[in-house]
Amino acid sequence: MSTMNRRRFLRTGGALLAASSLPFSLVKIAFGKAASEDFTFAYVSDSHITQIKGKEFVRNWDRGLIRAVAETNLLDPRPDFIFYGGDIAQLGKPEEIDHGLEILAGLRGDVHYVMGEHDYYLDLGEHWRKRLGPDHYSFDHKGVHFVVLNSILTYDDWTYNKWDTPMRRMKEMARLDNPQGSPFMVGDKQREWLRQDLAAVSKDTPIVVMSHSPLQKIYKGWNFWTEDAEQVQALLKPFAKVTVLYGHVHQIQYNQIGNISFNSAMATAWPWPYPASFTQESSHMPKLTVAMNRADPFFDRDATGWQFINLQTGDVDVHYALPDNRDRIVAFNEEKGEPVDTYYQPESARIPPQRHF
Ligand SMILES: [Fe+2]
Ligand SMILES: [Fe+2]
Repeated sequence: MSTMNRRRFLRTGGALLAASSLPFSLVKIAFGKAASEDFTFAYVSDSHITQIKGKEFVRNWDRGLIRAVAETNLLDPRPDFIFYGGDIAQLGKPEEIDHGLEILAGLRGDVHYVMGEHDYYLDLGEHWRKRLGPDHYSFDHKGVHFVVLNSILTYDDWTYNKWDTPMRRMKEMARLDNPQGSPFMVGDKQREWLRQDLAAVSKDTPIVVMSHSPLQKIYKGWNFWTEDAEQVQALLKPFAKVTVLYGHVHQIQYNQIGNISFNSAMATAWPWPYPASFTQESSHMPKLTVAMNRADPFFDRDATGWQFINLQTGDVDVHYALPDNRDRIVAFNEEKGEPVDTYYQPESARIPPQRHF
């Protein structure tokens, strides 16, 4: 992207941000000198639409999604399409999925959907698939190969043999710090599908993988985790530049493992904090990035915000604008070969993460 285009791009976003703060991402894929055409797409995630009863739903979560839809429709330049990163529903009920999709139907443009665990564990994705189609697929767009995975599956024994009712299964999977839970995975079948899908793609094609759980191992207790992450990463390793964009964690995260850049999106519903245990567990991220400051619980839009993702020749440069907080820029650092948070990187600039009891 030329400096001028980039400046115009950021200025446009800045103007929109001044109007309001937004819980979704705008992803830009730029090709530099290549013949391919630059384009953008929007990324909305984790709305957790929650039914109280009948037609009554938790209003905060409705409002977060309604706002994201409205602001996405105002984007200039128009994104080529929109990704929804999973967890439309809270407890997987058809009423919740339908209500979420009714709000999302307001989006102008095609929407590609990713399956979240909150959409899945009540009826094992039946209603979601009936409304939205397959839970893993790929497509090409202007020189980029996009792959969507369902990364929230788990061991068959846990899924099929452990629970008396589907709702019990859903609630067990929805809880954090639950010893009765089970780790997420992509699974053998889908990995074989991925292997075959990628076999037809040239190694210099930029790959963007959309998943719900991070395709890396961050923190098992909260299922910020994918059990077969290394096996999925191995399939992506032969490609020059790979970006994994994921939801689920409701917070800003970034990481680099070999050729793969990882970036999360914020949720439209609520932010998760970084527990102090991230840094105490041997299972933490291979390269732990920078802990997010605990969101202000009295400010319902805190730690939601706006993200620019500038994917220039495969390197990600994300501009996070947080209401009532200093903006954050996570930019790919050529020297370090990984994304770096330009403000919070030094230890001395960080606020200690929250402790949980
Ligand atoms: Fe979520
Ligand atoms: Fe999730």
